[in-house]
Amino acid sequence: MDNVITIEAFGDNYFYLFVYDQTSAVAVDCGDCRGILKVLKSRNLRLDAVLITHHHYDHAAGSKKLKKKTGCKIISPDQKRIAQTDQLVADGDILDFGTEKIRVIATPGHTASSVCYYVAPSGANTGGMLFTGDTLFIGGCGRIFECGAKTMWQSLSSLADLPDNTQVYPGHDYTQENYQFALTIDPETEPPKMPSTMAYEKRSNIFLRSDDPEIKKALKMPGVGPDEIFGTLRSKKDRF
Ligand SMILES: [Fe+2]
Repeated sequence: MDNVITIEAFGDNYFYLFVYDQTSAVAVDCGDCRGILKVLKSRNLRLDAVLITHHHYDHAAGSKKLKKKTGCKIISPDQKRIAQTDQLVADGDILDFGTEKIRVIATPGHTASSVCYYVAPSGANTGGMLFTGDTLFIGGCGRIFECGAKTMWQSLSSLADLPDNTQVYPGHDYTQENYQFALTIDPETEPPKMPSTMAYEKRSNIFLRSDDPEIKKALKMPGVGPDEIFGTLRSKKDRF
């Protein structure tokens, strides 16, 4: 979408600016505020808020300084571990920015309090947009640090239920590595593409295919449930 600006940092992190009218923007994640400040200045944008997906430093550490520089509000799902939080959010909350509505989707797994942010379709955006932090990547998913595989699988499944034309905006670029891994499980895996949609991820992301009989066959685990298949894939990827 041309109203989403991607900001790269730390080699493979992505932060985003969602520009929701001519002059206002919302940031998603901020491990370091320098790139975001640069774009705000060059495009003459006002920053209303930064939405944080989870507490890891590479997603949250720059938000305090960003607030100091811009006066933006810090919105997060974890007041304990993101002490600078101004507004705490939980699953199902709707955030209003102008005429845009952003829904909070709880996605425990990578961390217990991780969330994704879904911008519902409106006006010029015929498809929604999903900011996934470290839960869903292009062709992959985040490591499971604080929950079980079943919980992470449920989180990914709830994202997969979003409309097919939802654009996916991940918190890291691990795309090539994910594809290399996927090929070891299914040599016919479709190559990743950026930007990606939920429809394409459901087809090409090996983790979202945990309920696909082809994958069960490839793993020699017929008759096994998708959460267990997912757990097996995730452990294989951890060792890849
Ligand atoms: Fe993370």
